Amino acid sequence: MAIGIFMKTMASNAPIGVFDSGLGGLSVLRELVRALPQENFIYVADSGHCPYGGKTQDEIVARASAITDFLLASDAKLIVVACNTATIAAVEYLRATYSVSFVGMEPAVKPAVAATRSGIIGVLATGAALKGEKLLRLIDRHASAVTVITQPCPGLVEQVEIGDLSGPETRRLLTNYTQPLLTAGADTLVLGCTHYPFLRDTLVDIVGPDVRLLDTGEAVARRVETLLARESLQTSSAASGRIDWYTSGEPATMALAGARLWGAPVSARTVPQT
Ligand code: DGL
Repeated sequence: MAIGIFMKTMASNAPIGVFDSGLGGLSVLRELVRALPQENFIYVADSGHCPYGGKTQDEIVARASAITDFLLASDAKLIVVACNTATIAAVEYLRATYSVSFVGMEPAVKPAVAATRSGIIGVLATGAALKGEKLLRLIDRHASAVTVITQPCPGLVEQVEIGDLSGPETRRLLTNYTQPLLTAGADTLVLGCTHYPFLRDTLVDIVGPDVRLLDTGEAVARRVETLLARESLQTSSAASGRIDWYTSGEPATMALAGARLWGAPVSARTVPQT
């Protein structure tokens, strides 16, 4: 009995693991911290292997598994795959392989179908995400009544990774990727990559205020909250939680771009594996 109580306390004060191919997952972490301010988090940016968008499914599964091993060795009580591409490529494998609970991203196709008035929605995502069966199934299941145009966006992740959210090259890419969708009549765009919410202001500037831009960071935070309650894993601490930052890339680069995206200093350590 005493052991059971001890273990539960350990688990509930353990951190929530969050990972992405790089810094895009900060758009999800922002919502998680807002919803669960007392929880501790470990964030892993796999910037040394970013972007995932041009990788094969096997390569993404290998990266997601290596990071999961690190997060579990760091006592993570739940893992958020804060990357659409990694979710689409690897979350089924992760769930079948590890006993910890995973929360993944689901591009906001369902809310977009509910929101569109023109009946045409655009999905912006990485090439690998758009090739994934999981996304195709989501579109098949929920969007048969509307026209869905998918748009791969190579280069955008890299712009966010260097913290360039509104420079000429970022604007050029965003204009190129959104123009065909607007010309086709899309009035709702799904931001199907966790890096893209950081481009929201520039996107609004380019597509205008009447086009809806949907992401799912908030929905993921609600899902995590529900799962923690269901599994009795909420922290027992009343104080503000802590974030431990790790990167497989250069800590100095993460400090620079991370501070820009996070709005506060991000002091990352090198992730000790792979
Ligand atoms: N943030 C990742 C996503 O949500 C970007 C993937 C990449 O690195 O290409 O898809």
